[in-house]
Amino acid sequence: MIEKQAFPSDRYAVESQIRFHGLDPAECLVELEPPEGERLIEEDHIQSYLREHGENVALVLWPGVQYASGQVFDLGRIAESARECGANVGFDLAHTAGNVPVQLNDIDCEFAVWCTYKNLNAGPGSIGGLFIPARHHGRSDLPRFNGWFGNNLASRFKMAPEFDPAPGALAWQLSTPPTLAMAPIMASLDVFARAGFLNLREKSLALTGWLAQQVNAELSDVLEIITPLQPERRGCQLSLRVRAGHEAGRELFTHLEHLGVMPDWREPDVIRASPVPLYNSYEDCARLVQFIRRWADK
Ligand SMILES: Cc1ncc(COP(=O)(O)O)c(C=O)c1O
Repeated sequence: MIEKQAFPSDRYAVESQIRFHGLDPAECLVELEPPEGERLIEEDHIQSYLREHGENVALVLWPGVQYASGQVFDLGRIAESARECGANVGFDLAHTAGNVPVQLNDIDCEFAVWCTYKNLNAGPGSIGGLFIPARHHGRSDLPRFNGWFGNNLASRFKMAPEFDPAPGALAWQLSTPPTLAMAPIMASLDVFARAGFLNLREKSLALTGWLAQQVNAELSDVLEIITPLQPERRGCQLSLRVRAGHEAGRELFTHLEHLGVMPDWREPDVIRASPVPLYNSYEDCARLVQFIRRWADK
């Protein structure tokens, strides 16, 4: 079970896994939609679906932060709802890592995955991350696709035919890591450690909260904020629907790019703006609001 609006990587992954197991995605892939007339899927809706149909669900794959809307999910609650009906649960934390704190050890999930090229600043092509709960560590009986780098370091160079799993999540490594691509992560994580992730989250909540306030005060005729605004339901991102529609939205987006703003476009009419607490300022946010106001008034 995934969300109807899942990022294509997730949809392709589960669809191809279903095929790999000799099953038909048309029959076996559940794509949960928001209730009629609503844009977001609330945790209550996930729970009700699972209470009603959960006995047929093998795996719930859910994002920590919805990439298009910026909505943050209560992963503990989703895991509980999945477990209640006997389903496994895994999380896509692509937009969560480096953005919103999550205590994976306190959540009853099977796995979580994420990329390092967004809020962790590693750049495209860098490695992905994987969380495997402690109860699976050291197990060689799991149906895992093994790779050479997942072998215990002590015996890796013995080139033995039997796989000897490395301790912990290291056993899931498939191949030689790209050292140059990993250098930026080391530097970035060092900055995160020095700043303190919870300090960054505090600044992020304030910075994005301030931008949301400004958008609502100065630009409500131009933009509608889709992202939920309660602190626990958002990260640094605001998804801004351009009220004038697709054409005007594209024009505004290109205009902002020319002015040196780096927003992101999502079809059909959404601009995503994510002030990053590590290097964006209130002045950056004020300038963004000013640029949009001037564009709308021209
Ligand atoms: C939620 C989510 N999952 C996955 C990805 C991309 O994953 P990959 O680069 O491994 O295809 C993205 C990229 O934006 C994403 O937003």
